[in-house]
Formats: sequence, C-alpha cells, structure tokens
Amino acid sequence: MAVPLALAPMAGVSDLPFRLLAKECGADVTITEFTSSAGLSRDVANSWLKVESDPRERPFIPQIFGGDKDEMVQTVKMLQDKADLIDLNFGCPAPKVTRNCAGAALMGEPEELVAIVDACIDASDVPISAKLRMGTGYLANNIVELAPRLEESGVFRLCVHGRTLKQKYDGKADWNTIRQVVEEVDIPVFANGDIVDAGSAQACLDVTGAAGLMIGRGAIGRPMVFHEIKRNLNWNSSPPPWGRTTEPFAIRSWCWNRYVTIAKETTGLQRKWLNRHAVAFTKGLEGAKHARGILSKEKDPEKMAADISKWLSEGSEYSEG
Ligand SMILES: Cc1cc2nc3c(=O)[nH]c(=O)nc-3n(C[C@H](O)[C@H](O)[C@H](O)COP(=O)(O)O)c2cc1C
Repeated sequence: MAVPLALAPMAGVSDLPFRLLAKECGADVTITEFTSSAGLSRDVANSWLKVESDPRERPFIPQIFGGDKDEMVQTVKMLQDKADLIDLNFGCPAPKVTRNCAGAALMGEPEELVAIVDACIDASDVPISAKLRMGTGYLANNIVELAPRLEESGVFRLCVHGRTLKQKYDGKADWNTIRQVVEEVDIPVFANGDIVDAGSAQACLDVTGAAGLMIGRGAIGRPMVFHEIKRNLNWNSSPPPWGRTTEPFAIRSWCWNRYVTIAKETTGLQRKWLNRHAVAFTKGLEGAKHARGILSKEKDPEKMAADISKWLSEGSEYSEG
C-alpha cells in the first residue's frame, strides 16, 4: 500500500530550493532543517532565513529545537501564522545541541521533553509533530513508553529514527522498535533510517507498518529517489519530471538545472548551498573530480552554477552518444 514519502530535515541540505526540487521529484512531505528556538525567539536574521518557504511548499513544516520551554513556546507563537504544522526536534545528536539539553539529549529527560511538547501544543493554533530517536543509548531505550504520552499530549504525528543518540549514524536502524511504536499509538508514525531505494522502502514498510517513510541521506544528491521508489513499487505511473532518459548524467543534469532555477526564483543562489549540492549531485559520476575542480576554482555562484550545468550536460551528451 502506498504511503507518503518525506524528505528528512537535514541541516545544510534541506534548503528551500532543494525541498521544492524534492517535491517535484515526488516527495509528499518536506521539513526545514532544524532551527534554533533561541535564535528565532530573539529574531536572529540567519535563523529566520532557514524557515523561509514558498507557496509551492504545502504543507510548510518548519522544524525547531531547544531546551528552554519558554523559548520553544515563544517560537511556536512567532511561527504559527506562516506554518501549516510545526515539527519539534528531539533527534539531533550534535554536541553543540545536546550540551544545552536539546535535540536527542531530551530523550534522557522525558519529563522535560513531555513538558515542552505540552506547552508548545497549548500555545499553538497549528498541529505539532515530533521527530525522535529510540532513546539516548546511555539509559534503556524509551521511545516505546514515550510515544503514547506524546499521543496523549495531542501530538499530530511522530517520526522515529531507529537509532539512539549515542549511535549517531552508526550501525543499522532498528525498524523492529519502530514497529512497536506503531503498535502503541493510533497517530501516524513515520519510519526513518536507512531507506535508500524501493527495496529498502518496502522492507521498512513490511517490518514497521508505518504510516509514512522519511528519507535523509538517500536523497542527498538524489532527489529522484522519491520518484524511483513510487515507480518501482507501482505507487505511481506518471512519467518522471526529467523525461524518458535513464542516463545518470542526464537525470542529474535535469535535477541540477531545476535546483538552480528554483534557487533563482526563491532564495537566490547561495554559494555554500550550491557547493554542497554540486558535490552531491556529481558524486559517483565518471570524472566527478573535474566537477570538484570547478567548485574550488570558481567563486562566483552564477558562474559556478553554469559551469556545473555545462559539465553535466556535456557528460550526458557523451554518455548518450
Ligand atoms: C547532513 C545531515 C543533517 C541532518 N540534520 C537534521 C536536522 O536538521 N533535523 C533532524 O531532525 N534531523 C537531521 N538529520 C537526521 C535525518 O533527518 C535522519 O533522521 C537521519 O539521517 C536518518 O535517516 P537516513 O538513514 O534516511 O539518512 C540530519 C542528517 C544528516 C545526514
């Protein structure tokens, strides 16, 4: 049975043009990268840049994190007019986040976590969702006990990444525990961790019975993964937006050109984002070293975007010829 596919929130990856591109490639749900409630509630311009959206992004779901309940509540109040839903991050393992007892560290403070969720739901006119891990990995995993408490609080949807804080991204995602969460609650649960193609998407669905699947690293440089999963699992028979070609250079070339066009229409070309996506979009292609040479040489974003575009299109002509 078809379920919605979500592009995972990813710092430095899930910028607005990339989220819109993922939508064009078949993602049903997109979420901003995590944004600090300390920054948003203090009106820091850089934080507000991360929660920019566009009418094409519906629903618009900003993700926020923080260990201070009042800042989280203040942020929810500031965001709710522009958001369709607000996602709370309890999954980030980065030390700069967890040392302030935010992100995944809050899984070790379940009372505090539930109190933050309760306060955000009380303050919000829009639904609140939460993204969590299994637990911290230092104490016994607690996601299966926590999930029904969050359901009772009124959380709209849960997304569970099948790893602990301690694991960061190591080891295999534990889909069996996600299944237990699915069985414990009636609200939708999205499964996350190690879904990279149609085979792993189906396998994860078979194990978890989740209401949706979230894809992170498998979509970096590969936004076409959403279409490919839907096509290969017979969820969707519409043609891909890149046309009939199956040639990797040509597909990446279409994705890159769309990314650049959408960026020009929305945020403008941001050098840091272009650089990151150019590395990802060209990874694994023959001669990708040459593309990286363009990135280190060319500092002007407009020129750099055009040079990568040219390199991809020449590669696709060469491969097709
Ligand atoms: C570069 C990168 C940045 C990430 N940033 C965030 C973030 O901002 N918020 C969040 O909830 N998770 C973040 N994550 C975690 C992903 O959303 C996801 O839970 C994790 O990568 C596991 O899914 P995957 O196996 O499909 O990659 C990030 C992951 C990566 C690789």
